[in-house]
Amino acid sequence: MDYINLSTQIKEKGIDNIDIAVVLGSGLGFLADEVKGKTIEYGEIKGFPKPTVEGHSGKMVLAQIGNKNVLFFQGRFHFYEGYSMKEVVIFPRIAKLLGAKLYLVTNAAGGINSEFKPGDLMVIKDHLNLMGTNPLIGKNHSEFGPRFPDMTDAYSPNLRKLLFEIGDQLGIELQSGVYAALTGPSYETPAEIKMLQALGADAVGMSTVPEVIAARHANLKVLGVSCITNLAAGVSENPLSHEEVLETTEKVKYHFGKLIMKFLET
Ligand code: 6GU
Repeated sequence: MDYINLSTQIKEKGIDNIDIAVVLGSGLGFLADEVKGKTIEYGEIKGFPKPTVEGHSGKMVLAQIGNKNVLFFQGRFHFYEGYSMKEVVIFPRIAKLLGAKLYLVTNAAGGINSEFKPGDLMVIKDHLNLMGTNPLIGKNHSEFGPRFPDMTDAYSPNLRKLLFEIGDQLGIELQSGVYAALTGPSYETPAEIKMLQALGADAVGMSTVPEVIAARHANLKVLGVSCITNLAAGVSENPLSHEEVLETTEKVKYHFGKLIMKFLET
């Protein structure tokens, strides 16, 4: 992955000097349609990973929100789709090269904590990397950061606190918890969910963690929000389905959008 070449093409197309990058998870991409600004389809950038599903390739939109330049990424590259880890971490690396200081990552996740309900929003306080690999394996890109980056407080305590304050102001209740990332694409078995519970996970998903590792490597501040779209296997009686994931994101759109936009304005 020639991240410098990719970011140069993006700059040439008019997107540069960003303050914040926002990655929109499954079912949450609508925010990029609601904001106005310079838009680039991923497919317009030579060398960008190709989508594995037919239809649109994903896009980025640069919007001015408050006094911040915010770049929204709609559509991410998942490890389970067969992308390499170098491709999976394209967003934090491009964000860094375009000047971002903050990486705001969102996802759809299954609830493991028995107090969670579908539709809850969880501020990620820490993660478990259970993907069996790490995006920083290989020669260190020292232009981004050190060989052995610290992962203490990977999810900025100050920004988490700020998000809770904004949630309070808006009357949006927020959960807090540990996000466990597995490769997928199969959902977990009930036994695996019990294991994750014992390991201290509150939610489980198939993304985010590699991006956060690359973002912290590059010294971006990170804030993460999971939309709990369903309860994980065994926590709920029901079989899991991607349809349920999308139905729930549809229901929480309004709150989610308000929370994220208010945070960006602040
Ligand atoms: Cl239950 N598991 C995983 N791995 N990802 C999910 C999920 C569950 N629900 C939404 N995304």
